[in-house]
Amino acid sequence: MKTDLSFSPLAQIETELLAVTATDIQTAKGPDAKPQPVLLTSDEAVRAAAAAVLSSGEYKAGTNEAILLHAPAGLKAKRLLIVGLGKKAKATVHAVRNAAGTAVRYTKPRAIRNLVFALPEAPEDLGLTLPANSCARAAAEGAFVGDFDPDTYRSERKDVSVHSFTLAAPASADQGAVQTAFNEGVIIGESQNFARSLVNEPGNKLTPTIFGQRAAEMASETGLKSEIYSTDKLHELKMGAFWSVSQGSEEPPALIVMKYEPEGVTDGPVLGLVGKGITFDTGGISIKPADNMEKMKYDMAGGAAMIGAMRAIALLKPKVRVIGIVCAAENMPDGKAQKPGDVQTAMSGKTIEIINTDAEGRLVLADGISYARSLGATHLIDAATLTGACVVALGMINAGAFSNDDTTIEKFQAGLATSGEKFWRLPLGDEYYDQIRSDIGDIKNTGGRWGGAITAAEFLHAFAEDTPWIHLDIAGLAWIEDNKPYIAKGPSGVAVRSILEWVRSYE
Ligand code: BES
Ligand code: MN
Ligand code: ZN
Repeated sequence: MKTDLSFSPLAQIETELLAVTATDIQTAKGPDAKPQPVLLTSDEAVRAAAAAVLSSGEYKAGTNEAILLHAPAGLKAKRLLIVGLGKKAKATVHAVRNAAGTAVRYTKPRAIRNLVFALPEAPEDLGLTLPANSCARAAAEGAFVGDFDPDTYRSERKDVSVHSFTLAAPASADQGAVQTAFNEGVIIGESQNFARSLVNEPGNKLTPTIFGQRAAEMASETGLKSEIYSTDKLHELKMGAFWSVSQGSEEPPALIVMKYEPEGVTDGPVLGLVGKGITFDTGGISIKPADNMEKMKYDMAGGAAMIGAMRAIALLKPKVRVIGIVCAAENMPDGKAQKPGDVQTAMSGKTIEIINTDAEGRLVLADGISYARSLGATHLIDAATLTGACVVALGMINAGAFSNDDTTIEKFQAGLATSGEKFWRLPLGDEYYDQIRSDIGDIKNTGGRWGGAITAAEFLHAFAEDTPWIHLDIAGLAWIEDNKPYIAKGPSGVAVRSILEWVRSYE
């Protein structure tokens, strides 16, 4: 998708489709109260073209509600699309992100390949908070997110991708700043889609080795250093936990290491990003039921999020050092697979009693976390589709977040306003750790049914120890079950934007 920025008057822009946003300002109450949509543009010609439909009472400007007008009078655009941001309280920057995605997804099946999206302009007396720069960035992100469709292996695939997305901003805007923000949004949207394209790949197409190759290609394109290691390196580093998952597969593991070292930055924090990269999770010997097992191709979404975030970091160049590590393996049942009851020795030296071979994510992450620390990471963040229990706790609305350090997670939480993503902090605690004490060794890899997301986090905590660390459990959000107006069902790319904001908070 090509992107462009225009500062021309909206009425003068020749395009197949001009999209403008609206919000619903409800003053009257009661059953006969009509919605009062307010168009978020100062362009008089656009307001005049939309006046009749807005006063008709037929259109509410509800969140992502869209209405299309053909041949709008007085405009050079062939069509005018009005996209709702919802009621005033919902008309946030994140609503603008989704509105841009809605506009893009509206055009795709209608064979409209070029569109212009007007940056919302809120009259001051409405009291909306829609800063031009934040909206420009969000609109670009939303447009890319909306453009993605997962049907890449359809043999007669109709390519309905949008050719060009132009953001139209008022000439009075700080043009340089809007341009910078928009360019950032393009990088972030593309990086999120890169992560989604990896998550979308089936297990036979994206083995750990190929996952590593894709990361290495990205790294060389964006100027990151990278190394892709396999079995020998795992043995050399004594990564017994990571290897124990991999040992039951014909596919060798990949230890993906990406380094971002900005010029002139030789001290300060080193951020370690560690992702779970299980390219397929059968459960191993503790095999999963057949129903929905095909979904377990997305068990590398945490790793893909780290690779997507590293891409954005490489291109946006924050002044802080970052190491990205993805532990990629396939979890398979096999004659060589590990068995419940086995004891493994992790890179840190801790011994792990395997209770359930399906609790494999924490095993690969344990060694990934130790390795990040050994490379000098001072602050850690991991992302993983780690537990079904987290989905039970938070549904598919919030992902779980855990931390051993309030300051570190507060920085992460502060970035959520910008990323527009939802993470809910869940507790840790010694009492939970008691659930994963082993009788034969140091720690066991499951802690029973209760508090399953938390005992999984406590397992990782035992390897992060006192290094400030955040754990993101994205099991419920990495895959979207139903189409939404602004995003296709399938891989979501969740966490890329929030991890990036966290990294930028250390600049
Ligand atoms: N990859 C799964 C978790 C998962 C579940 C991801 C649903 C996405 C959607 C993980 O490896 C797993 O199997 N976890 C087990 C842990 C249990 C054996 C302690 C689970 O959640 O059931
Ligand atoms: Mn599993
Ligand atoms: Zn898994």
